[in-house]
Amino acid sequence: MCGIVGYIGREQAAPILLEGLSRLEYRGYDSAGVAVFDAGTNTLAVHKAKGRIQVLSDQLHGGADLNSTVGVGHTRWATHGAPSDVNSHPQVSRSGRIAVVHNGIIENYAELKSFLRTKGVPFRSETDTEVVAQLIEHFYEGDLLAAVGKALHRVRGAYALGILCADCPEQLIAVRKDSPLILGRGEGCNFIASDVTAILRHTRRVSYMEDGELAVLTRDGIRCYNHLMQPVEKAAVTIDWEIGAAEKDGYEHFMFKEIMEQPQALRRCLSPRIREGEVVFEDVSLSGDYIKNLRRVCVVACGSSYHVGMAGKYHLERLTRIPVEVALSSEFRYMDPIVDQNTLIIVISQSGETLDTLAALREARRLGGHILSIVNVVGSSIARESDQVLYTWAGPEIAVATTKAYTTQLALLSLLALWLGRRLGTVPDQDYRQMIAAFQELPDRMEEVLSRRDDIQYFASNYFNHGSIFFIGRGLDYALGLEGSLKLKEISYIHSEAYASGELKHGTISLIEDGTLVVALSTCGRLFAKAMSNVAEVKSRGANVLALTVESHREEMARTADAVMAIPELHELLLPCLGVVPLQLFAYYVALMRGCDIDKPRNLAKSVTVE
Ligand code: M6R
Repeated sequence: MCGIVGYIGREQAAPILLEGLSRLEYRGYDSAGVAVFDAGTNTLAVHKAKGRIQVLSDQLHGGADLNSTVGVGHTRWATHGAPSDVNSHPQVSRSGRIAVVHNGIIENYAELKSFLRTKGVPFRSETDTEVVAQLIEHFYEGDLLAAVGKALHRVRGAYALGILCADCPEQLIAVRKDSPLILGRGEGCNFIASDVTAILRHTRRVSYMEDGELAVLTRDGIRCYNHLMQPVEKAAVTIDWEIGAAEKDGYEHFMFKEIMEQPQALRRCLSPRIREGEVVFEDVSLSGDYIKNLRRVCVVACGSSYHVGMAGKYHLERLTRIPVEVALSSEFRYMDPIVDQNTLIIVISQSGETLDTLAALREARRLGGHILSIVNVVGSSIARESDQVLYTWAGPEIAVATTKAYTTQLALLSLLALWLGRRLGTVPDQDYRQMIAAFQELPDRMEEVLSRRDDIQYFASNYFNHGSIFFIGRGLDYALGLEGSLKLKEISYIHSEAYASGELKHGTISLIEDGTLVVALSTCGRLFAKAMSNVAEVKSRGANVLALTVESHREEMARTADAVMAIPELHELLLPCLGVVPLQLFAYYVALMRGCDIDKPRNLAKSVTVE
């Protein structure tokens, strides 16, 4: 959601900015822009365009039109003001001498705008960001840093900012509060970026900005300050993954590539944590006493990560016998949650930057909860603010629709449940051994599922024209349905709902009519008979049923359902990890057949950094 990239060095800035922005496309955006310092005229050259980065790049001939070695670029995901050239960033001050790119929301922008209007400042855009540029200029009396400090003192909200001033072409200013921003350290050049993918081609050495910090970048160094403007030393870390991991590698879409990468991602996530038949969490230190005194677990997350929590509740409760609540982060933070030192808060987030989840984490911490997070992006805000972090090690996930992050999160949460259960003595030895074996088998079984992708493509070709699709299931299959339904709607734009099968009769079944597509999920052996009854119920009302079950039930299911997708047998608790794959593929192929923009679905962002 909004992407920032900034460069100061000795090379031409504009091509670097445009290339960096294209690497941030996956975050979701509707317009793009750059501002560079033009040494010829001693002014800032600002270029913006609604639509894809390619539009802007074409206008600037790939950046060749701009001669400058310092600049900032931005992809905007509209919040205040519709997508348009004028509302795009960079936003500039009245004189055009200060340019600002911003990720986040300035909450008191209306109040600040009124204040500035009383001082005669005219506004061009509807954005909250323009207020920041104008406010800095309002306070500017020759000392840019002082003006930025004064302006920030007045601003409330969440922001990552890149600031350029025509009077100070030898520096670039970066500020972070509640929105991600990193500093990239090169040789004779330095960078700012919303995430590492934007600058990885130029440097692997990055520093993570903390909330309230401000950085002044020059060609030869970076000075950082805390919120009191006291200098702070920032450590640099080296990013160890290759840029290729964030490229399509010959695949048509990132989503498909990431679906196919899942067995490998699971191996990376699980293998180091299972040694000689035991779960080993070197990255978690919860004492035996703490675990024994645990009274409650609360899982907090958004979107697909929340669905992981919905499935994980079954694992955690079954293996630990501790009550588990699963909360949407956006609700949790305002619901006066019950949390104390005997509550373990499990925060799940692929990006580690989802603002609602970060806020929920902070609220839980304030109330005394112990925070254990399951995160993919190393060094992200949620990871850094947690007491313990379990990284999923799925590698960079670029497609907006999450796939490999979901499966690794779910596998890791299940493994955590098993580890806790073992330490609590609530998992019988034999069950423990069976589950360990199942975890070790999981990547291979997933490969089998992926090898049958043509079957799913065939089903998608039969059903891609449906206007509304229901997913039904019980227990873990209900949790799986939530994810299958979200996957489908977010990339194919087909209306879709997931229901606990038993709930159908309480209202929703009235929507089932001739030809309605129902995806019936029935991987859980214990509940197979119940699932069959629900399939019969919707069939007798005219539904077309596409079922998902395990191999051993394929035949029986095929007697009632119109079509059956089957997955290999595995321990019941791990079946959602396998079962989600046909649903991801189904969503993918349906979206492909409908001509949708699969990696960048409309209105969505990869990392939701505003409330
Ligand atoms: O980065 P997070 O896991 O915190 O993101 C949470 C949701 O925004 C995310 O899972 C979203 O629902 C995905 N687009 C679903 O595919």
